[in-house]
Amino acid sequence: MSNGNGSGQTAPTPTIKPTDLRGILKYVPRFQGQIFVLAMDGAIVADENFGNLLVDIAVLRSLGIKVVLVHGIGQQIADLSASRKIAITNADGTGVTDAATLDLAIRASSRVSHLILEGLTQNTLKCAITNAVRALAVGIIKGVDQQFTGKVDRIDKDFISHLIEADILPIIQPIGYGPDGRSLRINSDLLAAEVAESLGASKIIYLTPQAGLEINGEIKRDIAVDTLRALLKEHPEQLNELSHSKAIHAVRAIETGVPRVHIVDGRTFDGLINEIFSGEGVGSLIYANDYQQIRKATKRDVRFLYNLTRNAVKREELLHRTQQAIEKNIDQFYVFEIDENIIACVTLYFYPDKPQFAEIGSLYVLPFYHNRGIGRKMVDYACMRAKEKGVATVVALSTQSYSFFTSVLGFEETDKSVLPEARLKAYDEGGRNPKVMLKSL
Ligand SMILES: CC(C)(COP(=O)(O)OP(=O)(O)OC[C@H]1O[C@@H](n2cnc3c(N)ncnc32)[C@H](O)[C@@H]1OP(=O)(O)O)[C@@H](O)C(=O)NCCC(=O)NCCS
Repeated sequence: MSNGNGSGQTAPTPTIKPTDLRGILKYVPRFQGQIFVLAMDGAIVADENFGNLLVDIAVLRSLGIKVVLVHGIGQQIADLSASRKIAITNADGTGVTDAATLDLAIRASSRVSHLILEGLTQNTLKCAITNAVRALAVGIIKGVDQQFTGKVDRIDKDFISHLIEADILPIIQPIGYGPDGRSLRINSDLLAAEVAESLGASKIIYLTPQAGLEINGEIKRDIAVDTLRALLKEHPEQLNELSHSKAIHAVRAIETGVPRVHIVDGRTFDGLINEIFSGEGVGSLIYANDYQQIRKATKRDVRFLYNLTRNAVKREELLHRTQQAIEKNIDQFYVFEIDENIIACVTLYFYPDKPQFAEIGSLYVLPFYHNRGIGRKMVDYACMRAKEKGVATVVALSTQSYSFFTSVLGFEETDKSVLPEARLKAYDEGGRNPKVMLKSL
């Protein structure tokens, strides 16, 4: 790449371009003031990208995002165990923790927290290690005393919130404190989910030494929580060990109200920033439900909707609507978003003179996203909303994609006479002659 200064020398590729900044800026109002829980595996703290991640955290803070950092110690315990030749009962805080393992866990945790403190200090961020995690011993499971393994009893939300309000980044160690004040080892994936729930965080981002959620050896880019829950129940063997733990806690976190969980490779330069601020992300996203990415359109979406559908209008796949017409009827539009980018739309129109009927129209999915079930999801969603409003039958009109409605979505072709009078008039005047299909709800 030329550096444009006429010297003929090649400049290093800039890591952030002005265009990236513009892209990032559009997320700022949305994310400002939200809490993101970053859950860092011990292996990531030990990775050479760790320093870059701390810079990325400083970037998030500078954009007004409130960050809480939960860290793991799995790798450090294993390393200590090897170097000191002390056998451990488990490295990740899920099985039995005997006294020797707890001792190593405390040492590993102090070391990891310190490295984080040091790194954040280098980025001029104030931070604090807390005793905000109250724990209870897991006790005896299937006849085996789990000894010093703990589960979260309570997160001291006020304590953490005070720190956040004072611009201090809380660092949460995978060690909790029992009713007698003694230390108990807690799994950090679980802890991140508990912290996120208690603080009402909008995201958990698990930073792991893996490219994302691995299912059957392949990285799944996005998955609805229902699908993941079913997979955990029916085919847990399809998830590798790391993915399994993240998946269990992601499902749990979402069930308790955290809308999104990301799993990102913490070893990748810019991975965290790209996951949050790029349209398609780089890791895996687990989201609350199938319809979570669908929302009602607002006036701010008008120009975007016009541009989105323009090509389909040119090909006569969709009815032409001016920007003014879209704005006037914006209440009818629903949009599908992938990380803030609208990639599909649909309209739902209730006939004033035939309240048992509603019309689905302007269905459009950007070609890049075809065949991922989004078109079906949009229509299913519109049907669900119609049903909620007491509609018994939905109608769809289409010139070129009628077979999508009939063969994929189970609509039946019918005659235009089902349309109420006013709509029939518009139909006849339109001259496009679309097929009319209906479906009982
Ligand atoms: C029609 C459209 C909305 C489908 O969206 P999509 O997100 O790709 O659809 P889904 O992923 O939910 O469904 C994919 C299935 O539908 C089938 N399909 C897609 N378009 C189809 C069509 N025109 N006719 C028949 N089947 C079609 C695919 O082959 C696929 O079948 P499979 O599941 O058996 O493999 C999309 O192609 C589009 O936006 N087209 C241009 C605009 C348009 O024609 N809109 C309809 C006007 S009302």
